[in-house]
Amino acid sequence: MDQASGLRSIVNNDSFTKKVPTIASGGSRRVPRVISVTSGKGGVGKTNTVGNLAIALNALGKRVVIVDADVGLANIDIIFNLRPKYNISHVISGERTLHEVMVKTHHGVNIIAGGSGFANLTQLTHGERLNLLTEFETLENMADIILLDTGAGISSNVLYFNAAADECIVIATREPTSITDAYALMKVMSQEYGTKYFKLLVNVVSSKQDAKNVYATLDTAIGRFLKNVVLEYLGNIPSDPKLQKAVLNRSTVMDYAPESPSSRAFEEIAKKIVDSPIRLSSDGNIKFFMKKVLDSVN
Ligand SMILES: Nc1ncnc2c1ncn2[C@@H]1O[C@H](COP(=O)(O)OP(=O)(O)OP(=O)(O)O)[C@@H](O)[C@H]1O
Ligand SMILES: [Mg+2]
Repeated sequence: MDQASGLRSIVNNDSFTKKVPTIASGGSRRVPRVISVTSGKGGVGKTNTVGNLAIALNALGKRVVIVDADVGLANIDIIFNLRPKYNISHVISGERTLHEVMVKTHHGVNIIAGGSGFANLTQLTHGERLNLLTEFETLENMADIILLDTGAGISSNVLYFNAAADECIVIATREPTSITDAYALMKVMSQEYGTKYFKLLVNVVSSKQDAKNVYATLDTAIGRFLKNVVLEYLGNIPSDPKLQKAVLNRSTVMDYAPESPSSRAFEEIAKKIVDSPIRLSSDGNIKFFMKKVLDSVN
């Protein structure tokens, strides 16, 4: 049985066994904590999760910087109704510093727009790499949490950023294609980069049971085929028409409808992230993070 058909049979099987992953102790803590938000399938809610989680984390007293690492469809600025003049390309070329590129939301969350700057990571010159490394080091003292909004899928850029982050939040919905694509992403990450831990966030659910079923499906597949990988259940976001309206209004749902079910869910998830121990694969700093990204492109 190949992996895909194996997964399909698991997807179609009702009898899931739920394994609660053991939580490793945090190890030495590094500031800032770099968290990537990623998915196999596109359009499952990464950008909205990053934007709303950033606001919720900020409300918990955390200094948050968002890095838009989605090369093709960089759009985190849209839900904050911002129009950044500069993006990461200007930092890479040395025209601007990271601080000049950064735009602040009214909550105090800082955003670094992606644009096409990250498109050719493999072709950066030595000087351009140095610009990135040196500039990212300046985030060290100004952020507690860095959230990376990655593109969807298993393109090399997505993999680089996920591999370099401390933690990787995978978003899936109930749609079977989203589940199989999430599995494919985790498989590639574990095989190519040795990534062992993932956190699952199930979006657009109509009940908690929906989310648990998605988790059980993926966790069962991982248990069978990816022995070294641990998938932790982070939580779920309900299907919420208010979130859709917020997007149409170029807003985050946390701003547009703070009492809505999805806003509440983002608050809960932010608390869980802050309270949970960090599983560090290695110790380092933010410059080290960018170095890991750049090293992995070679
Ligand atoms: N919890 C939710 N309830 C209802 N609709 C949602 C929810 N989450 C996301 N959506 C819908 O899905 C759309 C896409 O969300 P978003 O842009 O965050 O996805 P994405 O994963 O970042 O997409 P891409 O892969 O294109 O970057 C939103 O504009 C919204 O209409
Ligand atoms: Mg997006």
